[in-house]
Amino acid sequence: MDVFDAIKGRRSIRQFTDEPIGKEELERLLEAARWAPSGGNQQNWRFVVVTSPPQRELIRKFAPGIFAMPAAFIVICADKEPDANPWKEALYVADCSIAAQNIMLAAYEIGIGTCVALSYAKVAVSEILDLPENVEPMLVVTLGYPAEDPEPPPRLELNEIAFMDEYGKEWVS
Ligand SMILES: Cc1cc2nc3c(=O)[nH]c(=O)nc-3n(C[C@H](O)[C@H](O)[C@H](O)COP(=O)(O)O)c2cc1C
Repeated sequence: MDVFDAIKGRRSIRQFTDEPIGKEELERLLEAARWAPSGGNQQNWRFVVVTSPPQRELIRKFAPGIFAMPAAFIVICADKEPDANPWKEALYVADCSIAAQNIMLAAYEIGIGTCVALSYAKVAVSEILDLPENVEPMLVVTLGYPAEDPEPPPRLELNEIAFMDEYGKEWVS
């Protein structure tokens, strides 16, 4: 699949069929995450793949932003240094977000729907996953075979968000 087609065609999927996702597919998505760029190539991300029904139930219970039950979750966590400074905190967010996008694009290519969620209870999810104290969940990605085909939500026009040379100087297509 053409990369640009994947970028444009991917949608957040919030309704899934009951079909499970195979180990091979899940591993492909983890590989996509593993090859994401990270600040200083530090790769402080950790990925917890959740497929067991009781664990999925628990996570969904503490994630009000996740509406339907997905076949799997990948909880993207940061393995944090003690007393990480604000710059390091920003790196964790950026690295985990970029890894999430790699997962979502790779999933789209093989027909798996995804949605990223930030609205979940960090403490509860940490306990459910038995995360060590230094490991913090940053993003939850839901995964499953799509049971919907949503319209693309509108995007701002380029001339509203892109500028030439200086902020406010019009980008002319
Ligand atoms: C950081 C972040 C947090 C999000 N959190 C949620 C969420 O909690 N629940 C949800 O249903 N969608 C969530 N989304 C998905 C957005 O609503 C979605 O990406 C946006 O509406 C654009 O739609 P598209 O992904 O289909 O292009 C989140 C997206 C991002 C990037």
